[in-house]
Amino acid sequence: SLTESIVIEGKHYTRDEFTNVTPKILSYVGINNHNRLDHPICLFKQSIIDFFYGHFKGRTGNPIFSIYDKISPVVTTNENFDLLLVPKDHPSRNKTDSYYLNKSHMLRAHATAHQSELIKMGLDNFIIFGDVYRRDEIDRTHYPVFHQADGVHIFTPNELEIINGCNINIFDPEKSNSIEKQSIYSKEATNIVTNHLKSTLVSMMKQVFGKDIEYRWISESFPFTHPSFELEVYYNNQWIEALGCGVIRHEILKNVGAGNRIGWAFGLGIERLAMPFYSIPDIRLFWSNDSGFLSQFENLPKNRRIKYKPVSIYPQCYNDLSFWLPQEKPFCSNDFYELVGEYGGPCIEQVKLIDQFEQKKTGRISHCYRITYRHLEKTLTQEEVNKMHQLIKTYATQNLGVQIR
Ligand code: PHE
Repeated sequence: SLTESIVIEGKHYTRDEFTNVTPKILSYVGINNHNRLDHPICLFKQSIIDFFYGHFKGRTGNPIFSIYDKISPVVTTNENFDLLLVPKDHPSRNKTDSYYLNKSHMLRAHATAHQSELIKMGLDNFIIFGDVYRRDEIDRTHYPVFHQADGVHIFTPNELEIINGCNINIFDPEKSNSIEKQSIYSKEATNIVTNHLKSTLVSMMKQVFGKDIEYRWISESFPFTHPSFELEVYYNNQWIEALGCGVIRHEILKNVGAGNRIGWAFGLGIERLAMPFYSIPDIRLFWSNDSGFLSQFENLPKNRRIKYKPVSIYPQCYNDLSFWLPQEKPFCSNDFYELVGEYGGPCIEQVKLIDQFEQKKTGRISHCYRITYRHLEKTLTQEEVNKMHQLIKTYATQNLGVQIR
């Protein structure tokens, strides 16, 4: 009920005005596709691990990077935002964009949420794998739960020196300002770290996607890195946003006792890369327990790239829904997307705002959404679609206070 606290992994979280997780969303916690051996998310994870184990070896051939793939997705807002210098007014903090258990706890919106904690423990090189949660639109490539890999590499002064060939100042005695670097770090150190970051990530993409893969760097911005970049790779006739990365903000390192160092970080969405890699056409398939899907990934030899064969493609079917927005309470499109995800069942393929207008006289606003239905394993009848559509209308009226037109 609405007054009971939320229980996750045996821990209780008291509801408050921030709570916006739904039973459906909570049901994904603990599924851990990234740890299910024959699951494509897990296979893709393994190829990332293989790269880092093979590319960075210690004195005795031991792997340098440690892997964290069992950290609970429940984090504090401090871990998800504040420790990463996300500004107080950043849109990702809104209830409309993230899933909150209450004011202080949430489902991580990125794997970066664990970065500070692990650095504080004394780790210099690690990769985190985990499920992350975001309120978003619904279509073939978006789902409120997906998986990320986040990596961190912090340099020892000795390591920088070896790469550089001679002694190097990590810090800029003049603290000179320039958009290419953080004022505290020297230009030389920033360049070495940036080049190391870029060449490492390009090597990873080449190992995974093939050595001839085309790629390009785009300048980006994240609150927790500077300079920041995005890597795009060209695969199957399209540019894919593969990952975000950059030089870790010094303030983050300083706050967890590593203020005398410099390092890089990256984060990538696994589904976004695994979909083109395995030719998986719909992100919902990653949640399928259908043997037609999972059996294709069973007992694959290491690093074998398979092409997913759709069992068959059933026709899609769409219905539009127009309503007046409530006047008494706030409404955002994500509220509606989520409601459709929650009550529309597994057949929702896409929900899209296709029209909106304001009625001049009354100031009322109308939205029209197109809902696309498709079953992954059979053809839907018009009657089945109507039933789901009716249910969405009823719940939208009851829960969101909209008025169907
Ligand atoms: N956390 C960022 C995201 O989810 C990715 C990122 C991680 C970027 C680490 C830079 C450094 O988009």
